[in-house]
Amino acid sequence: MSRKLMQALHYDSYGGGSASLKHVEVPVPSPNKNEVLLKLDAITINPVDWKIQKGLLRPLFLPRQFPHIPCTDVAGEVVEVGPQVKDFKVGDKVVAKLTHQVLLFFFFFPFPTVFQLKMITNSVFNQRVELEFSLLFGDLKNQGIFVIDIDFIPSIVCSRLLPLWALGEGLMLLCMEPPVNGRAVSAAKSRAPTDMTTTQSCSKIRQNLTGMLLFMIYSVNYLITIVCVVYAEWQYGGGFAEFAVASESLTAARPSEVLAAEAAALPIAGLTAHDALTQVAGVKLDGSGQPKNILITAASGGVGHYAVQLAKLGNTHVTATCGARNIDFVKSLGADEVLDYRTPEGAALTSPSGRKYDAVIHCTTGIPWSTFDPNLTENGKVVDLTPSLSSLTTFALKKLTFSKKQLVPFFVTVKREGLEYLVQLVKDGKLKTVIDSKFPLSKAEDAWAKSIDGHATGKIIVEP
Ligand SMILES: NC(=O)c1ccc[n+]([C@@H]2O[C@H](COP(=O)([O-])OP(=O)(O)OC[C@H]3O[C@@H](n4cnc5c(N)ncnc54)[C@H](OP(=O)(O)O)[C@@H]3O)[C@@H](O)[C@H]2O)c1
Repeated sequence: MSRKLMQALHYDSYGGGSASLKHVEVPVPSPNKNEVLLKLDAITINPVDWKIQKGLLRPLFLPRQFPHIPCTDVAGEVVEVGPQVKDFKVGDKVVAKLTHQVLLFFFFFPFPTVFQLKMITNSVFNQRVELEFSLLFGDLKNQGIFVIDIDFIPSIVCSRLLPLWALGEGLMLLCMEPPVNGRAVSAAKSRAPTDMTTTQSCSKIRQNLTGMLLFMIYSVNYLITIVCVVYAEWQYGGGFAEFAVASESLTAARPSEVLAAEAAALPIAGLTAHDALTQVAGVKLDGSGQPKNILITAASGGVGHYAVQLAKLGNTHVTATCGARNIDFVKSLGADEVLDYRTPEGAALTSPSGRKYDAVIHCTTGIPWSTFDPNLTENGKVVDLTPSLSSLTTFALKKLTFSKKQLVPFFVTVKREGLEYLVQLVKDGKLKTVIDSKFPLSKAEDAWAKSIDGHATGKIIVEP
């Protein structure tokens, strides 16, 4: 059956920023069995949306295909339900995150090998990935299970069906680089003529020894493989449109007291602030925990403005950083002391009251560990929301040296219960969404450009 058409914005290649967003008419999507179709009332932009367009999440295969309709955090009304949807009906007002979560099995191999590097620089590698994924999609897609391994962190991603496949590769390696040839060794030692020239012998020995060494490293790698099972985002986006389908499991009811724009802003930004504070920094939002000193960087932004308010529900003293124009605003959210990040004290993150921080919710980038270190308590943690190669190196070094001070790379996983909790806080007046600006869908590219610019106060909203 042909579907009605709707207005949407999409891009069809990496890069290009707001200029490469195109207004298009595309069919209204159909909900699958566990999905609801939403008529959207409000959409918000998160930095991850334009980072995907820049290609920064390419190693995670995002976006899955072009053209891609970006944005995941929306509020709207249910207009159609899939046959297995139990908790929603047509007419319900909801908030949702437009992703489909799947189980991913990650196999971490501690030592990169020359063989793997060779393989990755080889163009055949891409075909391998395609082949393996087609096998995976064919067999496992319906069960929502994908198998991926990561050989390097941060990574060039390659995939294998199972470590068994990889052991096969090890055997292949052994065939390609056969065991050391005794005759060649003695020929090389004595420099006596054989059926190989001395140079050929030496080069063969080197090749064989390298082969043996690589095989040993490869085998040890698989023996000490670290297997992680995580939920990962798949089919990410679809929000820059009049209608979108949402998985029932990532949809929560929106009471009439909570406006669509207030709710749409919550999923990624609100839950990042919530989970970083509660799961990593150990803040109890009912106020029952030990007193903690918390630093929140970029407290005027989407994540930061929620983090300040949520931290103050706990037993905390909050120091915050922001630009001079936002100092009063951040104080009004509840921060106990505020630093202008463009002053020397702000750049040094020094608490005006001389406090050391138990945890930092780090919502900006470009601050080195050496700046955090003197400001932390003995067991202080920096929760890094934008992990980079240098912060991952610091994370690994701190772990390896058993440092009590830790840098913790953090990635949010949105769950329905979390959404429901935050919506309830907004309803109860304990949390508010501050809206920087609103744009109609016809001007969504301006909202996109504003988000990339990085100077929003609170959240940017697009309304179809
Ligand atoms: N790991 C995760 O799961 C996760 C989830 C959500 C977000 N994130 C990441 O977290 C970061 C923040 O996201 P967001 O949505 O809050 O961004 P945002 O809303 O775009 O942040 C903008 C705000 O940051 C302020 N700011 C910029 N540089 C600053 C600095 N050096 N010190 C203090 N304030 C500064 C700006 O103030 P001025 O205008 O005064 O400069 C502006 O108010 C992004 O990198 C995002 O990708 C990660």
